Amino acid sequence: MGGSSATVTLNGNQVSCPVRSGSVGPDVIDIRKLYAQTGAFTFDPGFTSTASCDSAITYIDGDEGVLLHRGYPIGQLAEHSSFMEVSYLLLNGELPSKDVLDKFSGTISRHTMLHEQLATFYRGFRRDAHPMAIMCGVVGALSAFYHDSTDITDPHQRMVASHRLIAKMPTIAAMAYKYSVGQPFLYPRNDLSYTGNFLRMTFGVPAEDYYVNPVVERALDRIFILHADHEQNASTSTVRLAGSSGANPFACIAAGIACLWGPAHGGANEAALNMLREIGTPDRIPHYIERAKNKDDPFRLMGFGHRVYKNYDPRATVMQSTVREVFEALNVSDPVFEVALQLEHMALNDPYFIEKKLFPNVDFYSGVILSAIGFPTTMFTALFALARTVGWVAQWNEMISDPEQKIGRPRQLYTGPAQRDYVPVDKR
Ligand code: CMC
Repeated sequence: MGGSSATVTLNGNQVSCPVRSGSVGPDVIDIRKLYAQTGAFTFDPGFTSTASCDSAITYIDGDEGVLLHRGYPIGQLAEHSSFMEVSYLLLNGELPSKDVLDKFSGTISRHTMLHEQLATFYRGFRRDAHPMAIMCGVVGALSAFYHDSTDITDPHQRMVASHRLIAKMPTIAAMAYKYSVGQPFLYPRNDLSYTGNFLRMTFGVPAEDYYVNPVVERALDRIFILHADHEQNASTSTVRLAGSSGANPFACIAAGIACLWGPAHGGANEAALNMLREIGTPDRIPHYIERAKNKDDPFRLMGFGHRVYKNYDPRATVMQSTVREVFEALNVSDPVFEVALQLEHMALNDPYFIEKKLFPNVDFYSGVILSAIGFPTTMFTALFALARTVGWVAQWNEMISDPEQKIGRPRQLYTGPAQRDYVPVDKR
């Protein structure tokens, strides 16, 4: 491979593919003309060596454990920024001035209410429905309510849809929770912060005032920042693929929510806390580590390992310190945290995990915090979806505004029968 091109030799034919460089990170070999020139496809199920797009939003260096949003390190954003500011940054590319941020936050606040008809939509679900099932359904249904922001060729409508999705997601998630516990829905309050409003809609009741604990509000806001975007992960790629056909943004985000639900992705936070509770006490950890290493046992350490990070997930570092902050503020403790700390310590000293470069990911500690705040485990992935919505809409907008955008249409290596003739049923 040369500095600016790579050569593929196939059946005696030599084809030169240009090599493109980004601002940082690995180069990519541009193989868009490969099929036309050679008649062969590349084969990369799971996309382990494939860049599906170019993007200026988020950068990850998995070996070094670096995560940047528009160039800013996640640790700095988690410490100094707010979820609203990070949302603006992801959507628009630059940090806002104070006035611009106030205006953006005000715009989001004014989109937090849901069409009243949607409340009746909830009543069609069983009370024990998983909140992610409700989220998939209700977010998809938004396309039936907000027709004035579904023309994807109009940048203004795209931005209105983006604001609506970011604004309505806390209301939708809080209502899913309220429905499951049989309490009345609470309308949003625009005098509260994005996260404070969500806490009140979730844990408040109409019968009394709700006090937003500032430490909890800050901790949850930070959790939202940590989940806001993560370049071309499975759910974001799903949103892009759905959007590449021209589908409306509400339908695309519903597709992203469906993908996020799986335990290998956003569902891992729920699975991780369930696993830690099942382990229960530190003396049982070695048994679970052995199970995770056993190839004949499907069990995996949930909240461990990552496709991109082969080092400590920088989000897990912030998460771990946030656990202590929340415990102190709420004056609570949870034996599960000790189990998590010891499990991490044992795994990081075990040759299996060292060799495979398996470290705690964002989901390992998040459940401990969310549980201390009072969320049931079934809500964890819904919170992930809430926070990731801004990343999804930023990536979707970036794709739609790209003049080179095409429908996403992977090919395959066909392994089924070659053409054969139909045999009538009485002759088989
Ligand atoms: N416990 C035990 N072994 C593991 C684990 C784990 N958590 N993760 C990976 N491995 C092993 C795996 O068995 C494989 O071994 P071998 O090479 O001998 O076959 C090797 O490590 C590589 O794993 P992989 O499944 O080929 O890697 P992947 O990049 O396809 O999968 C992953 C990444 C995140 C799906 C996987 O690490 C996993 O299942 N982790 C547990 C679920 C989890 O915590 N998911 C959250 C990811 S972060 C947040 C998000 O994306 O939503």
